[in-house]
Amino acid sequence: RTGEYCYKVYHDRDSICDGCLVAKTMEDGKIHSTEKTVLKPDGREARLIVYSTPIYNGNGKLSAVMEMATDITEVKKLQHELTYMGRTIAVMAHRIKNILMGLEGGIFVVETGMEDGDDAMIKKGWGMIQRNVKKVSGIVKDLLYCSKEREMNFELIDPIPVVQNVFELFEGKARKENITLDLDIPVSMPKGKFDPDALHSLLSNMITNAFDACINDATEDKEFHRVCIHSKYEQDGKYIFEIEDNGVGIPGAMGDCVFEDFFSTKGREGTGLGLLVARKIIEEHGGTIIFRSTEGEGTTFRAIFPHNE
Ligand SMILES: Nc1ncnc2c1ncn2[C@@H]1O[C@H](COP(=O)(O)OP(=O)(O)O)[C@@H](O)[C@H]1O
Ligand SMILES: [Mg+2]
Repeated sequence: RTGEYCYKVYHDRDSICDGCLVAKTMEDGKIHSTEKTVLKPDGREARLIVYSTPIYNGNGKLSAVMEMATDITEVKKLQHELTYMGRTIAVMAHRIKNILMGLEGGIFVVETGMEDGDDAMIKKGWGMIQRNVKKVSGIVKDLLYCSKEREMNFELIDPIPVVQNVFELFEGKARKENITLDLDIPVSMPKGKFDPDALHSLLSNMITNAFDACINDATEDKEFHRVCIHSKYEQDGKYIFEIEDNGVGIPGAMGDCVFEDFFSTKGREGTGLGLLVARKIIEEHGGTIIFRSTEGEGTTFRAIFPHNE
C-alpha cells in the first residue's frame, strides 16, 4: 500500500488523526512517541509504540519525517499478566495468612483441651482446624482452575448424575443452615461433552454462593430460605443449569463486577474466585453464564452449555 496515507492504511480514515506525530515533528523538528491500538488486516487489534523522527537534508533543513512502529502486543500482554500475578500472590498470601491464624487458633484450643482433659474443648478446636483446612483446599482448587495448570478433561456424559451428586453434597449443609434445597431436573439428558469434575466445581461454587446469600440475608419478610437447582435440556441443543435463591440479591450497581477476580463482599470469608472459576469453566465448554437478581429478593445464576459431541 505504498504511496497511501498512514491514516488510511492504519486507521481507514480519510483525514489526518488527532495528535498526529508526523505533523508534530514536521512542526517542531523533534522526536515524538506514543502508544496506540490499530486494527491489523486480519481483524485483530495490535498495540503499537510509534516514533516519529525528523530527517534533515544537507542544508540542515527538515525535509521529511520517518515514522516507525513496533508491535508490542505481546509485551503488553506479558506486562498485564505479571501485574495480575503479583496481585494474585499478594491477595492469596493475605488470605492464607488469615487461614493460618485460624489453624493456629484451632491447634491452641486442642492443646488447651488436652492439657485440661476437656473433650468438648478438643472437639471445638478440631472443628476449627477442619474448617480452615477446607478453606485452604478450596482456595488452592480455585487457583488451579484459574491458572493454566488444570486442563479440561472432556468426557461424553449425561450431566444429570453430576447434578444429583452436587445436590446430595449440599443436603446436609442445607439442613444445618435451615435452607430448603430443591431439585428440579429431568431423569436424564442426552450425552454431551463435559468435564465432570469441572461441572461439579462450577455447580458447587454457584450453590455455595446461593447458600451464603441466604445465610447473610437479614430481611425478616421471608418465611423461609430456599435454593433450587434447575436443569433442563433444550431441544435446540442447549444444556441449562440454574441456581435460584431467595437470599440477599445483588445490587444493580454491582453488575458484572461479581465475575471479576477477587471481587467479594464477604470479607475474610470470601476468596472472590468462585465466579471467576465458574465463568472460566463454562467458557472452556463454549458456554455462557448470566444472572438476574433483585436486591433483597434473590438471585438466579444461569449457566448455558452448548451441546457438543
Ligand atoms: N447468589 C448470590 N447472591 C448474592 N450475591 C452473590 C451471589 N453469587 C455471588 N454473589 C456476589 O458475588 C461476589 C463474588 O462471588 P465469588 O466469586 O463466588 O466470590 P466469594 O463467594 O468468595 O465472595 C460475592 O462476594 C457476592 O457479593
Ligand atoms: Mg463464592
